[in-house]
Amino acid sequence: MNKLGQTLTVKQDVAADAIPLSLYIHIPWCLKKCPYCDFNSHGLKSGNPLPEDAYINALLTDLDLEFQQSGQRPIHSIFIGGGTPSLFSAHAIADLLSGIQARCKLKSDVEITLEANPGTFEQARFSDYRALGINRLSIGIQSFNSDALKQLGRVHDGHDAIHAAEIAHRAGFDNFNLDLMFGLPGQSLQQAKADVKTAVRLGPAHISYYQLTLEPNTLFYVQPPILPDDDTIWTIQEQGQALLAEAGYQQYEISAYAQPEKKCQHNLNYWLFGDYIGIGAGAHGKVTTPDGIIRRSKVRHPNDYLRQAADDTLIQTESVIPRESQCLEFMMNALRLTKGFTTETLTQRTQMTLEAIQPRLKTALNQELINIDGKKIVPTRTGSLFLNDLLSIFM
Ligand SMILES: C[S@@+](CC[C@H](N)C(=O)[O-])C[C@H]1O[C@@H](n2cnc3c(N)ncnc32)[C@H](O)[C@@H]1O
Ligand code: SF4
Repeated sequence: MNKLGQTLTVKQDVAADAIPLSLYIHIPWCLKKCPYCDFNSHGLKSGNPLPEDAYINALLTDLDLEFQQSGQRPIHSIFIGGGTPSLFSAHAIADLLSGIQARCKLKSDVEITLEANPGTFEQARFSDYRALGINRLSIGIQSFNSDALKQLGRVHDGHDAIHAAEIAHRAGFDNFNLDLMFGLPGQSLQQAKADVKTAVRLGPAHISYYQLTLEPNTLFYVQPPILPDDDTIWTIQEQGQALLAEAGYQQYEISAYAQPEKKCQHNLNYWLFGDYIGIGAGAHGKVTTPDGIIRRSKVRHPNDYLRQAADDTLIQTESVIPRESQCLEFMMNALRLTKGFTTETLTQRTQMTLEAIQPRLKTALNQELINIDGKKIVPTRTGSLFLNDLLSIFM
């Protein structure tokens, strides 16, 4: 039967090996903390050297523990994020990658991304990263407008931002992402469009286009800057998306736009509720085991993390995702994707049968928040715009 009459009776058997496994590595330091950022990142105290060697050793200890807990499976993608991983020397990244290779099997087409901030590297470092096997960069541009960057508390200016993309090309990266934010303090429609046009002109394979949000526990939350009004932000988003589409960047997730075949495999694995190991200060992972889906996280502060790893007392905080929460957790990720997901993916990655959620799918269908196309479940435009309403059906 088709549409919601279909009676697929796929039972969950936890065949974890069939679920792709990614590796996230957190580098928690930045030159300076940005006032809008709630990531686990810490400004470097002046004069304090980066504890590169100790941190790489800690990461590899952490990885050993992860494999002891969850067994070995080939790694599909690696993402070295932060913080500012491009503060780490090529020598340190080489030690990290060789340590990983000595411990686990990487898929032959593994995507290895490193986050880089303009102004934290020189061209030689990018070329070295490329030679080590980093095959994707994610560059935190935010804006090309120097005044906007100053208001965001960034350490780079517009010229550094352009230079970063240019040297990524020169270093041989044919696959790099530019992170852009819109809805910046005092930003006009013209300024926002100029940012998108400059990004497109630089020819990245991927652009992430985020609306600036004021997050609790940030300076901007306590002392909010004056942001554009909602109508202006809406117009900026619509016109920014149109410029990206005209330039051949297809939207595949709420904030992610890619040239053909250049979607971020690592993030796609998150959004399709794949498995991932997280190593580093504050990193967390999600691994499917015969005992259920386990979340595991590490202590947040880099000093505590370094101390625990050196003392061989690295604490892994574990929790099991209850069966009744798995469906919502899956939807919170997969419904972000413009092309949605297949029912096979849902049943493979959660302990939910399709029958169990059919009434809720039917409600979403009746409210025109999703479409069902054979075995594919796809959010409608309304469903994507009102994602919280759609998700509330699965609570
Ligand atoms: C892990 S963060 C930081 C990466 C890198 N250190 C940087 O500063 O560019 C990844 C991206 O999230 C986005 N981001 C961070 N805080 C944000 C906020 N409050 N609102 C919207 N986007 C944000 C930025 O575009 C940022 O590049
Ligand atoms: S936005 Fe990036 S550079 Fe700024 S504090 Fe956060 S992680 Fe560090």
